[in-house]
Amino acid sequence: MRIIIGSDHGGFALKEAVKQHLIELGHEVCDRGTHDGETSVDYPDYGRAVAQAVVAGEHDLGIVICGTGIGISIAANKVQGARAALCTDPYMARMARAHNDANVLALGGRVIGSGLAADIVDAFLNGHFEGGRHVRRVAKLRSEEAGVKSGEVRLTFADG
Ligand code: RB5
Repeated sequence: MRIIIGSDHGGFALKEAVKQHLIELGHEVCDRGTHDGETSVDYPDYGRAVAQAVVAGEHDLGIVICGTGIGISIAANKVQGARAALCTDPYMARMARAHNDANVLALGGRVIGSGLAADIVDAFLNGHFEGGRHVRRVAKLRSEEAGVKSGEVRLTFADG
């Protein structure tokens, strides 16, 4: 898979570990930075860059990492078409793909270790969107997003 990964300084160390894991698995990895853990940078810049590249179709999936994973997941989710999921265990990662069709995985570099992160990444990459009723729910997310961006009336679905 083509995977783009990015972090702020708080996620730098885990980004390097995850990147190595991805390379060992044979994935094509694009490192969007940051490139050191000492220089303080702003997580919105990296969350947005990774999410935009995924939504543009330049990469299959994205991984974003900050200290907690919270700020950078919020940033990624500001990009229209991005569905970033902050996961702290493999079950969440698997379900993020299966039910939410997540296209960006967010991790907290100061929250989890590299071993757990590798398991979470594996679950995310091996996950598959289940479709079915989840298509309608993801479509609602999309219509909400489109309505918010354009100011138009939001689509609603009558079947509950
Ligand atoms: C940086 O100190 C830290 O605030 C950032 O990495 C992240 O945890 C924000 O959500």
